[in-house]
Amino acid sequence: MKRIRVRLGSNSYNIHIGPGILGQIPTWLKQIGFSDKLVVITDPTVRNLYGNSLKQSLASNGFKVVLLEVPTGEEQKSLETAARLYRELTDFYAERTTPILALGGGVIGDLSGFIAATYLRGVPLIQIPTTLLAQLDSSIGGKVAVNHGLLKNKIGAFYQPRLVISDITTLKTLPANEISDGLAEAIKYGVIRDAELFSYIESNLDQIKSLDDKVMETIVFRSAKIKAEVVEKDERDFGLRQILNYGHTVGHAIESVSDFKVSHGEAVAIGMLVAARISNKLGILDQSEVVRLKNIIAGAGLPTELPSLETEKLIQAVRHDKKTWQGKTKFILPRTIGDVFISDEISHSIIAKALVEAK
Ligand SMILES: NC(=O)c1ccc[n+]([C@@H]2O[C@H](COP(=O)([O-])OP(=O)(O)OC[C@H]3O[C@@H](n4cnc5c(N)ncnc54)[C@H](O)[C@@H]3O)[C@@H](O)[C@H]2O)c1
Ligand SMILES: [Zn+2]
Repeated sequence: MKRIRVRLGSNSYNIHIGPGILGQIPTWLKQIGFSDKLVVITDPTVRNLYGNSLKQSLASNGFKVVLLEVPTGEEQKSLETAARLYRELTDFYAERTTPILALGGGVIGDLSGFIAATYLRGVPLIQIPTTLLAQLDSSIGGKVAVNHGLLKNKIGAFYQPRLVISDITTLKTLPANEISDGLAEAIKYGVIRDAELFSYIESNLDQIKSLDDKVMETIVFRSAKIKAEVVEKDERDFGLRQILNYGHTVGHAIESVSDFKVSHGEAVAIGMLVAARISNKLGILDQSEVVRLKNIIAGAGLPTELPSLETEKLIQAVRHDKKTWQGKTKFILPRTIGDVFISDEISHSIIAKALVEAK
């Protein structure tokens, strides 16, 4: 098992990463000294796979547990679902000291985190992410939120968990497309800050496909470490944290123009390639690095070409992005694999050229 300490003063916490570690949760909770009353929030799929047995193991260790179930899907990240959960917490007489355990993917993590941040002005939050994306991205860093209508993550807070437990074994039940989506973010961490992680993924694509414990543990560990380091330096997203948006400017445009038919990971994969091509056109990133990026993306089961979306609509969507100012858009661009810089000087004509090349 591997451990990361996220150092945020009085909001510091540990991330535990390893295979088969769900069984140790009761012991860790006792060590920290949480109350013996607990709430687990999960969805039906994760409940059947891991929730019922987690509840049992907590109960047999003397905890009083209530398990609250939320239907599967992004639309559950809503104020309506939150209102229902507040009622259920009140029915259970949940108190300021009652921890909420978020067991599931990013949807459950963001929603439960939002509840934990707001119920009784804040109760302890424990993230138990079960998707690759949640293990290496959404469970770390304290961004919690619900959507408001079509506006994603509009109502939320910065609220750090007290502990994150990433059991690598839970990835074995994930559909292949969810693994690929998570890998897009792991590749992102490689490009922005860790050339070794990038090479590691590059040379272990077969082991990733078979979800080898050791390889997956390494990928989650190194990715989580980068996210933790970036968050430690910029908890509230005023500066460095922007580099985590590499691939996301064009990525968000693709998601929205495709009416969310293209998944987040797929869109980010293409977005990373477009940003790499822009950097290459500016004479910064070497062509051989663009090729490496393209190959690793394909190897991870992600698309390297744009779906048939109109370039003009994509440019419009990029323009609408909050990162645009006076006809120029802020972009995170790779200098080389392992190092990025922020440019707010990117003209829409060069973006259009890079988009067309991605077709
Ligand atoms: N807070 C942040 O910093 C942050 C960062 C990135 C993404 N997010 C958010 O994360 C969400 C996406 O998260 P996601 O990709 O994990 O999707 P998700 O939470 O919708 O989970 C995907 C699917 O996998 C299922 N599932 C979960 N664990 C499983 C397992 N071990 N085996 C089988 N099935 C399992 C779920 O039931 C669900 O159907 C979005 O709402 C996004 O906004 C938040
Ligand atoms: Zn992302």
